[in-house]
Amino acid sequence: MKKQKTASKQVEKPRVLVIHGPNLNLLGTREPEHYGSVTLDDINRALTRMAESAGIELQAFQSNHEGALIERVHAARDQGVRAIIINPAGYTHTSVALRDALAAVAIPFVEVHLSNVYAREPFRHHSYFSSLAVGVISGLGHEGYLLAFEYLLNKLNTD
Ligand code: DQA
Repeated sequence: MKKQKTASKQVEKPRVLVIHGPNLNLLGTREPEHYGSVTLDDINRALTRMAESAGIELQAFQSNHEGALIERVHAARDQGVRAIIINPAGYTHTSVALRDALAAVAIPFVEVHLSNVYAREPFRHHSYFSSLAVGVISGLGHEGYLLAFEYLLNKLNTD
């Protein structure tokens, strides 16, 4: 009798990527009147905890380099990332190239800012990302990331 092969196929968890732009590695000490005292590690840890209890794989990436951020977005498509949370930081107001990368991979994303960019200098009022984003959260501090993630978890469960 032929031996039956038992397929032990592992079900992959849905992947979500959080991208932090330039200078966000300094969170906790950087202009706390705008960005609060929570560190980037604190934010990533809180998101990871939420992801673990929801059965989601969370990847986190920070870079101070535009090209590295673009390449990370490209890689996300190859890795089957289902949704992105991005704080493009200073590149929000300058980077056509990073916007184009998100448009190219067509992965839905939520744009997050810790500070309320509309209550600050006029050059921060324009974002190259907002018109492509599923939604934008600005001014809710580190909780903005958690709210964005909660929204995406509901979306992934209902899609
Ligand atoms: C920011 C707002 C940007 O204007 C600024 O350049 C940042 C952080 C925020 O999270 O509030 O670096 O994206």
